[in-house]
Amino acid sequence: MNDGRKPVRSAYKKGNICPICHKGVSGSGEHIRSIHGEEEFRRAVLEAKAGGMPDPEIGSRFGITFKQLEKLITETYGINISALGKPKKIKYWTPKDFKEETTTVWSFKQRGNWATHDGRYRGNWSPYIPRNVILKYSKPGDVVLDYFVGGGTTAVEAKLLGRRCIARDINPACVVLTLENLDFRLPETFLGKLSSWEPEVSVGDARDLSDLFDNSIDLICAHPPYAGIINYSSKVEGDLSKLGIEEFLQEMQKVAKESYRVLKPGRKCAILIGDTRKRKRVVPIGFQTINVFLEVGFKLKELVIKRQHNCKSTGFWYANSRKYNFLLLAHEYLPIFEKPKSPVPLGVSEEVADYGLLFPAMEKPVIKRKLDEFETMTVWILPEKDFEKRLNKNVIDRYSNGKGYSTISFVSHSKNETDITLGEGQNGRGLLFIKSPFLADNPSCPNIEFYLQRTKEFINRELPTISEGGFIVIQTQDVRIGEYVEPLAKRVVDMLAPNNLSLKEIIVVTQQNQNPKLQATSEYLKINHQYLLVYEKQILGGSGNEHP
Ligand SMILES: C[S@@+](CC[C@H](N)C(=O)[O-])C[C@H]1O[C@@H](n2cnc3c(N)ncnc32)[C@H](O)[C@@H]1O
Repeated sequence: MNDGRKPVRSAYKKGNICPICHKGVSGSGEHIRSIHGEEEFRRAVLEAKAGGMPDPEIGSRFGITFKQLEKLITETYGINISALGKPKKIKYWTPKDFKEETTTVWSFKQRGNWATHDGRYRGNWSPYIPRNVILKYSKPGDVVLDYFVGGGTTAVEAKLLGRRCIARDINPACVVLTLENLDFRLPETFLGKLSSWEPEVSVGDARDLSDLFDNSIDLICAHPPYAGIINYSSKVEGDLSKLGIEEFLQEMQKVAKESYRVLKPGRKCAILIGDTRKRKRVVPIGFQTINVFLEVGFKLKELVIKRQHNCKSTGFWYANSRKYNFLLLAHEYLPIFEKPKSPVPLGVSEEVADYGLLFPAMEKPVIKRKLDEFETMTVWILPEKDFEKRLNKNVIDRYSNGKGYSTISFVSHSKNETDITLGEGQNGRGLLFIKSPFLADNPSCPNIEFYLQRTKEFINRELPTISEGGFIVIQTQDVRIGEYVEPLAKRVVDMLAPNNLSLKEIIVVTQQNQNPKLQATSEYLKINHQYLLVYEKQILGGSGNEHP
């Protein structure tokens, strides 16, 4: 890419020196743009990128935002790829010290760089995800379908694990990249007695799988765009990453329907999806996408939380998280759906048990406000010891605004009491905190419906006593009922959607030092996360503190 002129990076290292005319300049990209023109500017940026200059440095040197840089790369190469160049040499074939995940919180500190995996394609998933999914829900020789294959991560894993794979993407440049990443021969003895399969890679639209037979696929393992949060292409027709959220969800209905049709009964469909923020709210694309798949007939076998590690928790972000009172999105959802073996009859009717559920609960925590103990991301990992206390402290510190709070707890199925313990100051309270420890005791379906109904009633009753801009925080958790998971956080979010409350945060809370080995033999993952759903009472006629 360099035609003999000084490489951009070394030129710039010496200060603001124009890489084209080598003159010292005060501004950044402005000089290149005005003196040498737009084409030269684009070329210089791409050269800097190819030369390995980090994105933030490119941003400050050339005066462009990260989004503009992504757009430039995507327009030029037809693909949103973060480092330009050929795949690296393979150093090892399998992840070191790999252990299958046994709980519902999956966290991979290193993204994984065995075989040809690397992070070149923007938004590709960690290969630990398809590896876990493939190992858990398929056997050698099974057909794994990834219709959003991107840079080929799933296809590479399927090949390494002796599974057949159908790999598709709407973007032809992704097919080229996937084939590049699949361009390796496994060592002779690598698969032992297993057969080796070369994935079938092609351009295709996930909304139309009409060339695949009904009930023909053993596992679907895919990672769609999260609506238009990251653009994966600039001109590719049918690319769902160009859509707004509503349209994206509509198109995902087609994907879900086709997935249901082609999957064999009893088999699984794993979809990784994350939320986004708009203004001061969380847009729960994750839960909305789960709804789309449930609506076509899938059942929820597991709801895994995938932690993100590339979020910044220090400096600018930390300061802004505190200043504007928002958390950095640090988790995604990996629902594992099952196509039931026989259609599940709708609306199974069960008698509602004669139970009450509420009991005054909250000890009033005496807590000194220490700002430096604030959690700044949407995943809170708290020590097992003092778990509840730490959780309460964090919630009250962050959301009571010094205006007082009250709590209610759903503690029992048998007590027929309803009460509220008020904390400091009842009028214009800053926070209503609703806890539900009874959910840990295997509640039944009617229990759950009753809990949801009462939660809604409470919120409607208490809302007028909460100050404008005050918060309602609901601590809840997914529960397993029979073979499937009842995703209660999603149910609450669905239930409260049309309300004058705005969803400020979906926080995942989990315990430190879990011992996953205890559950290693179970067919099911151990549910070891809870949620805090943070709702803000809308300020009439005002927008409050905006954050970036
Ligand atoms: C999040 S990326 C997938 C990344 C992939 N898991 C990996 O590891 O590289 C989403 C992919 O969906 C593709 N895509 C968008 N719309 C599509 C559609 N209608 N059909 C098939 N693929 C589509 C995009 O081109 C993009 O490569």
